[in-house]
Amino acid sequence: MSSKDYVSWFRDSTPYISAHRQKTFVVLLSSEAIAHGELTNIVHDLALLHVLGARLVVVHGSRTQVDAEMPDATYVGNRRVTDAAAMQTIARINGQIRTQLEGLFSMGLPATPMHNTDINVVSGNFVTARPIGVIDGVDHVYTGRIRKVHAKRIHTMLDSRALVLLPPMGFSPSGQTFNLAAHELATETAIALEAEKLIVFDERAYLSEEDGRRRGTLQPGEVDAYLETCSDATRVHVECLARAVRAGVGRGHMLGFAEDGALLGELFTAAGVGTQISEDGGGAVRPATARDVADIVEIIRPLEESGALVRRSRDRLEREIERFFVAEVDGIVVGTCALYPHQDQGELACVAVKQSFQSSRTLNIGSRLVQTVEAAARAAGLKRLFILTTQAEDWFREHGFASADLSALPMEHRLLYNYQRASKVMIKQLS
Ligand SMILES: CC(C)(COP(=O)(O)OP(=O)(O)OC[C@H]1O[C@@H](n2cnc3c(N)ncnc32)[C@H](O)[C@@H]1OP(=O)(O)O)[C@@H](O)C(=O)NCCC(=O)NCCS
Repeated sequence: MSSKDYVSWFRDSTPYISAHRQKTFVVLLSSEAIAHGELTNIVHDLALLHVLGARLVVVHGSRTQVDAEMPDATYVGNRRVTDAAAMQTIARINGQIRTQLEGLFSMGLPATPMHNTDINVVSGNFVTARPIGVIDGVDHVYTGRIRKVHAKRIHTMLDSRALVLLPPMGFSPSGQTFNLAAHELATETAIALEAEKLIVFDERAYLSEEDGRRRGTLQPGEVDAYLETCSDATRVHVECLARAVRAGVGRGHMLGFAEDGALLGELFTAAGVGTQISEDGGGAVRPATARDVADIVEIIRPLEESGALVRRSRDRLEREIERFFVAEVDGIVVGTCALYPHQDQGELACVAVKQSFQSSRTLNIGSRLVQTVEAAARAAGLKRLFILTTQAEDWFREHGFASADLSALPMEHRLLYNYQRASKVMIKQLS
């Protein structure tokens, strides 16, 4: 990477750095991820996220490691039957994994990515469990269900800048330890903490379409269509992400534990590298407010300078802010447009997407903005939309606009038409 590329990459990441600061992320490191050679890199990336101000809760699994020691364990469905001897082994293995992770988070040698990081990792009795009981006639003994995640206690630790590490175990009020499923623990913890994100490291890097293309974003209602091609482990993970998002967690992310840098690629780039599940399908368009003026200015200024957009003063923008819409990704304003009604016509104006988010095949921000404005125009009873464009004629044609004559415009636009600018007039019938 040249120093110029590096500077532009770093600048593009800046909005994400502020967007993730003080946000609570619950991360599931499945037992396969713990066993994989990439674990050290994943921990380095988590450490970086922590240093940048994210509040991290890491839940780890241990099934692979426990199965290796107890190959003859009994399962009912996907759930282990945990007798007293098994519980002892599981507690020991969880202790070993916890120690391994604490060690990795404590690395700080010069010339390593974690030099000068000082991370306080805490574990504790943050989860109350109860026995799962008898299922299909089989007493599961010390296999437990989550009864309560002590969200307040965890938040207190996060407030003190600690990273919270949760092994898949819970404790009953009688002092008994129960074996929990790590994916359930991660999901219930994310929900209880009202986390911004649940991030799952899976054997697969992302969900894909039939032709193999990555599906970057989808809504919880869409996941079922992708489950058929998933292994049991991946299916469980995807279902957990969808459940968490339905229950109010901001976003669920599926990432491949074998992909170096997947966490950073997913959280610090527009297109991401994994699959994100969210109610808004990866981005939302909403009416702008006065607080968005600075972001809108930042998006449109370079486009005004290149001649793609007509110059607007900040004063005018502030006065007309209720005409504007903004598109957000991860809480960052990345696009804008405006709708000005003129009798039964609407002028679509100032359609602009932040450069680093343009032509993102997974987000399609420009298209979403236009769709939202069309819906707003229809709702307002407008019969057609028009636009004056110099550099995006083909793009609007692909969105159903057709070339039109100047005479089709409302009178004031005809009178104010700038012949030097020679914008193309395009119209889309709504009714
Ligand atoms: C035009 C614009 C709003 C599109 O937004 P976007 O989020 O990139 O668009 P989408 O992701 O929905 O669509 C991307 C597709 O449109 C194509 N596209 C983008 N800009 C285009 C343009 N000016 N002309 C023709 N096609 C264009 C991309 O190549 C991409 O095609 P692909 O999927 O085949 O690769 C954005 O590129 C932009 O802000 N341009 C500068 C400002 C401008 O010209 N605005 C219009 C004047 S009002």
